[in-house]
Amino acid sequence: MSLSNMKLKVTVWRQAGPNAQGAFKDYDLDNISPEMSFLEMLDTLNEQLNDRGEEPIAFDHDCREGICGSCGVMIDGVPHGPERGTATCQLHMRKFQSGAHIKIEPFRASSFPINKDLSVDRSAFDRIIESGGYISAPTGTAPDANLIPIPKGVADVSMDAAQCIGCGACVAACPNGAAQLFTSAKIQHLNLMPQGQAERWDRTINMVDTMENFFGSCTNHGECEAACPKEISIDFIALMNRDFVKAQLKQRRLAGQVFP
Ligand code: FES
Repeated sequence: MSLSNMKLKVTVWRQAGPNAQGAFKDYDLDNISPEMSFLEMLDTLNEQLNDRGEEPIAFDHDCREGICGSCGVMIDGVPHGPERGTATCQLHMRKFQSGAHIKIEPFRASSFPINKDLSVDRSAFDRIIESGGYISAPTGTAPDANLIPIPKGVADVSMDAAQCIGCGACVAACPNGAAQLFTSAKIQHLNLMPQGQAERWDRTINMVDTMENFFGSCTNHGECEAACPKEISIDFIALMNRDFVKAQLKQRRLAGQVFP
């Protein structure tokens, strides 16, 4: 079935650089296929801007398959747009009506400064990951599968956490600009597994401390879970908070007598 092309008006945030004054600018499009992805719609707009000798719109992207976490814009005020559990690169134009007016702006958070137009600097996430350090897994040849028994429920929950692609939608959605959902997913996918136990408590303290240097505090709005393209559960925040409290207690002098 071929679907006829759509007409759109898009209002896009344009900002020449990190310290430049930004402003919204309107563009009309009349050749958008409903089968295009949202990023392909921006590609089409950029081709037209190039043809007119205008500066194309900068936006972040890489895999365009919902894997890498590079993409992400606010679409009508919602991180990644109207489809739940969908990254910007996976969103299709058939989700919009022909004639729609779509507002597109970068993720808004003081910890994600704007590089240019829709592109933001998410390196504060890298600082959190760096502070987590490495796991001391023995190297050498690959161990046999199932050498370390892991209950299926634990493996499943760990894999759920490992789905986080680090796009930053959770931060952009949070009224406090908090990064608890991202940090808790990155902590828990290791903390839940036997291989992650050696550095569990140091990892938790270091990553939470680093997070608090860059991001706001969680006050349980739950907007992060709603915006997450991987639908990461806010239960991971509770697990992180449990580990953080326990990690602090373990630093006390009597801890060796009360913790196994
Ligand atoms: S471009 Fe990789 S997740 Fe969207």
